[in-house]
Amino acid sequence: MTPEEYYGNAFPLLKQGEAYLKSLIETYPNACAKDEVQSVLYVKTRIKTPESMMGKLKKRGLTEDAHTALQSTHDAIGVRVICSFVEEVYRIEQWLQKREDIHIIGKKDYISYPKPNGYRSLHLIIQFTKEDFKNMTAEIQLRTIAIDFWATLEHQIKYKRNVPHEETIRKELKRCADEIASVDLSMQTIRDILKSDIWK
Ligand code: GTP
Ligand code: MG
Repeated sequence: MTPEEYYGNAFPLLKQGEAYLKSLIETYPNACAKDEVQSVLYVKTRIKTPESMMGKLKKRGLTEDAHTALQSTHDAIGVRVICSFVEEVYRIEQWLQKREDIHIIGKKDYISYPKPNGYRSLHLIIQFTKEDFKNMTAEIQLRTIAIDFWATLEHQIKYKRNVPHEETIRKELKRCADEIASVDLSMQTIRDILKSDIWK
């Protein structure tokens, strides 16, 4: 089934919401100086596939139609914001908080409270306030590029059956996540030192 068939009338609105959020985040004031690393490296968006949405509803014991999907889930529109530094993740959150076209209605801070597997990201659920979006919601995930790299690999383990040496791989992934978090912090510290005036 295509997303158009599944979401029906709501599909054009979902696409509009997706595009709106992508352009919105692209207006975030990125690093100004030429030699500075950009705050937002890139933005990825997607509309949740019918298979994935129906799987989620089924797991929750709900009917699998699009109406239920849009009523009871918030991630039909998904936006991923890939940042250079951890600090930027929280800066962007603050910037989003001040906007009047969206409201942040939910938040999971897996950076301050990483998941047991090592996953680190800031998840925000937003609701559009504009009349034309009819209270539509979306999930915005913010994370560093290093953690994004990790999450992409870690994600694969979820879809594989009979992963050889699964326990060892999970342990290794956890170790990598912790090392990445430590590197992310060091990178942040180095940038702060380079930026600070006392060294000039
Ligand atoms: P769903 O997972 O969407 O059913 O909802 P939830 O309530 O569990 O939300 P949560 O914020 O925990 O996760 C939402 C999304 O974040 C997932 O669909 C993934 O894209 C991403 N995510 C969450 N946890 C992990 C993780 O451990 N590893 C990876 N790679 N991605 C994760
Ligand atoms: Mg989940």
